[in-house]
Amino acid sequence: MAEPGSIAERVKQQADIVRVIGEYVRLKKSGQNFVGLCPFHQEKTPSFAVHPAKQIYHCFGCGAGGDVFRFVMEMDKISFPEAVRAVAEKCGIPLPAWRGHGGPQAAQATEQRRVLVEMQKEAAAFFQRQLETAEGRAARGYLEDRGLAPATIARFGLGWAPSGGELLARHLRSRFPAALLDASGLVSRDRGGHAFDRFRRRVMFPIATDAGQVVAFGGRALGDEMPKYLNSPETRIYTKSRVLYNLDRAREAIRREGFAVLVEGYMDAIALAEAGVENVVASCGTSLGDAQARLLARFARRVVVNYDVDAAGQAATDRSLALLLGAEFQVHVLLLPSAGDAKTDPDQFVRERGAAAYRELLAGAPLYLDYLVGRARRLDTGAVEGKLRAVNFLLPYLGLLPSPLARSEWASRVAAELRVDQTVLRQSLAQAAAERRPELKPAPELLARIGLAVAATPAERRLLKMLLDADALRARLAEEIRRGDLHQGLETEKLFAALVDAAAGPVGRGSAETLAALGERLEERDRRLLFELAFESAAEASWEEAESCLEVLARRKLESELRSVQAEIETLKAGRGEAGERKAQLLRLLERKQSLQKSLRGHEE
Ligand code: UTP
Ligand code: MN
Repeated sequence: MAEPGSIAERVKQQADIVRVIGEYVRLKKSGQNFVGLCPFHQEKTPSFAVHPAKQIYHCFGCGAGGDVFRFVMEMDKISFPEAVRAVAEKCGIPLPAWRGHGGPQAAQATEQRRVLVEMQKEAAAFFQRQLETAEGRAARGYLEDRGLAPATIARFGLGWAPSGGELLARHLRSRFPAALLDASGLVSRDRGGHAFDRFRRRVMFPIATDAGQVVAFGGRALGDEMPKYLNSPETRIYTKSRVLYNLDRAREAIRREGFAVLVEGYMDAIALAEAGVENVVASCGTSLGDAQARLLARFARRVVVNYDVDAAGQAATDRSLALLLGAEFQVHVLLLPSAGDAKTDPDQFVRERGAAAYRELLAGAPLYLDYLVGRARRLDTGAVEGKLRAVNFLLPYLGLLPSPLARSEWASRVAAELRVDQTVLRQSLAQAAAERRPELKPAPELLARIGLAVAATPAERRLLKMLLDADALRARLAEEIRRGDLHQGLETEKLFAALVDAAAGPVGRGSAETLAALGERLEERDRRLLFELAFESAAEASWEEAESCLEVLARRKLESELRSVQAEIETLKAGRGEAGERKAQLLRLLERKQSLQKSLRGHEE
């Protein structure tokens, strides 16, 4: 975020993170760090820490973390530039006039982003105009058939990407620097390097930031062409996981109503808004991400999740729900009754049954845990294993509840609903709790189970820590890992890759700025682990220790290769096919297996 040489970076270098956070949280010195009660979740014993040297904060309980700007952004619900200003003011750092400062590079990057935004705006207007052409008329007909009034089509800025193939590319080339054409995500190139339109023959949905700036598009095919929706790639101005569709139009209604309705698709959001349910946003297919949850939290703390009901979506749905719950949202789940065996999405439902029917269901949407208890009851066959399955299904979710009181209440309810003994249930819950930190923070293994945390072995943790802190070993260590591809297939693979890459860069030199910047680039779960490690105090590392950890990774890799060779052998033995060829293949695999076994023995000596 704070780019090198930018004003933000200079403010950060001069700002005292302890002093800034100290204005919000009572901090106590503890070793080289400061600790206090986390302002982002309720707790009675401190698990929130500030690292003055690395200039980051991290909560071991809820996982919140970042640099001084992130902290102020989250606390005061303000944007990044506002946070830079606020921090500068708090610390008495004079700010130059905003434009034209921060070094030529930063100025250039800012200028590029400005032009990229300008290009999306131009493209949106272009697509809208195309809807009025002879070719666009079919698309307009399609939208009207789907029940959209002309006013709605205009309000959502819907458009048409023509079939010509290079109309937009040409239009943009006549107004913008050629170099930025590729960075816009609006054009692709064929093998000859010729630029053509990424979106062709598609109904276009502009995607905007919460401030209403168009940064990307989703394009729907008129018929059955694949993919049904083609979306903009990520660009310098568009990170998919940080945008919620329709938040710009919905934000006021979300504040006013005190909650947001979360749906999957563009059309769901539009149909609901048209039916008068204005406080609706769409996560657009994928499960909700952490950054999206944080974005939403700026406007309301209550969400009604109204995803499509299909088996495929269930896992993604679970993940979104658990994430919202862990972020202390009050979460409701709205399951729409399906018509026959066809899946019903919100769009279809309001069209067929009307806005009043939808509102009624919305108002009655059960709390998330009620919904889960319903699902658990279906696992409960009445027999002991059934009950066990049901309880095991629910326990992790109960553990995610931030307050002990709520947990206790829910434990009683669950016991009653599933007709299990209260004391037994409480014992399981307490046992699960005892394995965690005080205050019943979601345990890492629990988070890992629902995909929110990275499970790392001691050897992996130690190596990551060395990459982070051991200046004398870092370069050699990174080289060894890279050369042997030792991190391949690990849960920590991405974090390793980032640290190995960074070993040559500024993080390698221990710059506090870039640790936070690195964290911003990582997925939330990887960032958590990174910060956790940054706060760990550890003994001085030696190369011998590093080698023994590398050894663990190398062995694990050989073992996993061996397993997959073995699996291939089994498949081949069971399979059909031409006998001679199979025999040759089998021979190759057996040789490979032997050589792997030999290497493994070598590692054991
Ligand atoms: P759905 O398949 O549920 O589509 O995908 P939908 O919203 O009901 O679409 P219509 O009603 O047939 O037009 C939900 C969302 O997932 C994303 C889109 O954001 C879509 O709105 N998606 C889906 C894609 O990005 N690509 C696809 O190919 C399909
Ligand atoms: Mn739909």
